Amino acid sequence: MSTLTAPPTQQQIKRFEQIRSQTESICAPLEPEDTVVQPMVDVSPPKWHMAHSTWFFEQFVLQPYLKGYQVFHPSYAFLFNSYYNTVGNRVQRAERSTLTRPPLRDVYAYRRHVNEHIGELLTKANEETLAELMPILELGLQHEQQHQELLVTDIKYILSTNPLLPAYYTQNPSSSPALEAATFLEVPGGVYTIGHTGDGFCFDNELGVHEVLLNDFSVMNRLVTNGEYLAFMQAGGYDDFRFWLDEGLALVRSNNLKAPLYWLEQDGEWMVFTMHGLEPLELNKPVTHISFYEAQAYASWAGKRLLTEFEWEAAAQVYPPATGNFQESGLFEPTAAQPGTGMQQLYGDNWEWTYSAYHPYPGFSTAPGALGEYNGKFMINQMVLRGGSCATPASHIRTTYRNFFHPDKRWQYTGIRLAE
Ligand SMILES: [Fe+2]
Repeated sequence: MSTLTAPPTQQQIKRFEQIRSQTESICAPLEPEDTVVQPMVDVSPPKWHMAHSTWFFEQFVLQPYLKGYQVFHPSYAFLFNSYYNTVGNRVQRAERSTLTRPPLRDVYAYRRHVNEHIGELLTKANEETLAELMPILELGLQHEQQHQELLVTDIKYILSTNPLLPAYYTQNPSSSPALEAATFLEVPGGVYTIGHTGDGFCFDNELGVHEVLLNDFSVMNRLVTNGEYLAFMQAGGYDDFRFWLDEGLALVRSNNLKAPLYWLEQDGEWMVFTMHGLEPLELNKPVTHISFYEAQAYASWAGKRLLTEFEWEAAAQVYPPATGNFQESGLFEPTAAQPGTGMQQLYGDNWEWTYSAYHPYPGFSTAPGALGEYNGKFMINQMVLRGGSCATPASHIRTTYRNFFHPDKRWQYTGIRLAE
């Protein structure tokens, strides 16, 4: 029996449309004014994200491959290029909120214009052209998914800095299931293969498959919770230099940090700003929005340590995860672990800080041209995070996926898993 399937280009067009429309769904609850502000330099205005991810397709797919393509606007490459020096000058990152023009409606028109022309290109292109452009189109879609995650975290930050503390969506208060004590699952020592193998998409930073020799270790079967982190705070963890890396201690002292980002003490009770507004801290949910320094200090206080990125990948090979709380859940907040002692929350909920610097794998090389600027030039002074978060699309994450942020960053969904 044969099954009817759509031709490859029709499948690609459908996938393209689905991912592009998801970006707009994420922005749908926003007011136009929400889409322009940039309360800190790491955060980009949602309008900018929507235009920039569109520019990526125009610059790298339509201009080289669709004959006679006219750009939507001659200045948009200057306005919406992020960091590609090969492409030319651009609005500086910290100035993105100055772009009150073009208006939001023009950005939506830009998105439609580019979508229609991608559809035209995929329908018209011959096999040779398709073979050449498909990997770049795929990179554009993966890039769009990365910006979807940034949109979620940037929207949360933008709303949190508004004195009205508006909710992104409303939800009735829920209660988490009773928490079981964490257990530590053994991962046998040995030689593990690290890096991406197989035919599916991966970023260049996952290539350079190599073997790593690991000692026996044990890994916590779930993420560290708010309640466990609160115990560290109440034990004076933020004030005790013994637990901190020197840079982390300097950061904590100079910024008077006492708690994770979005925690707020009101009348002796801890509240937390979430995507559904300000609510009492739920002790069983995973602690999130912490820096690498805070994760490391907590681990040190707990008498444990963080995993290396290689240990994380080995643990994921030994304990393949079944499910995760990803972007598709629509919650945009981590959820409590379920009762049970198996491996939990390895994927989704929170990105997990590892104690591994973001370095190239053996044999790493950058692609020629502008797209060679995608990952390689950021391999300095950043730490690797693994496993995806509640803002990551499920189809975007892999065992070998390497995310990276500077160790002081707190606005992503970042949490702690311990090793011993
Ligand atoms: Fe980008």
